[in-house]
Amino acid sequence: MISRKKLIAGNWKMNKTSADAATLVGDLVSAIGKQNDVDVVVCPPFTSLESAGKVLEGSTVKLGAQNMHPEASGAFTGEISAPMLRALFATYVILGHSERRSYFAETDAFINKKVHAALKNQLRPILCVGETLAERESGSTLKVVQTQTELGLEGVSKEQAASLVIAYEPVWAIGTGKVATTEQAQEVHAFIRDLLTKLYTAPVAQKVRILYGGSMKPANAPELLAQKDIDGGLIGGASLEARSFVELVNAAIAVK
Ligand code: PGA
Repeated sequence: MISRKKLIAGNWKMNKTSADAATLVGDLVSAIGKQNDVDVVVCPPFTSLESAGKVLEGSTVKLGAQNMHPEASGAFTGEISAPMLRALFATYVILGHSERRSYFAETDAFINKKVHAALKNQLRPILCVGETLAERESGSTLKVVQTQTELGLEGVSKEQAASLVIAYEPVWAIGTGKVATTEQAQEVHAFIRDLLTKLYTAPVAQKVRILYGGSMKPANAPELLAQKDIDGGLIGGASLEARSFVELVNAAIAVK
């Protein structure tokens, strides 16, 4: 069995000025900036990418963005493109987060365009999928996850697929303190891996990291991260303080 390197990614959402970002990244770099046992990514807001990037230079902590527009440039007021992110040395980008889907009406087709633009620009997409509470209660979790994954990855080749990261984030667990049980999470992660096997073959599916996201905290992380198909976490609230984020990285190191 291929052992996948665990990945802990911090999704800061709309938090931290560029000065605050530099301070937080500085603390992270001192604590975990040299370790290479797990991959660590921070995703600050666009306005903090440059200051965060400067502080993490020379460390093993990597830089990611929280969103981008699929076009490279043009008349898209307020938007940011993949080449702009690359110019700031970002190497990851979160795409299709449920907050983008629900507050900004992003569709699977639009997210798919972003996935292609990211891959074309050597940005690794962290494609987020996940069901709402109503969808879980009506028994359609796996169907929703399947549709979002298939449509989000439409046209992505087998060669490209190996660099993907998928984040399973049940919408009802995001920022609510309600974490999915390890069984609930592992079931969906295994389902996504099976789906990737069908789409891209088993060797490719074995390489793709599938992160769990939704109220992951130092207290619940060890059990989640010990699951066979849970390859890391996409962390919101607990990524905003160095102490809890470092604890999460250490939890991933402990089960690597
Ligand atoms: P949370 O957010 O850890 O605060 O639940 C996770 C996310 O939205 O990526």
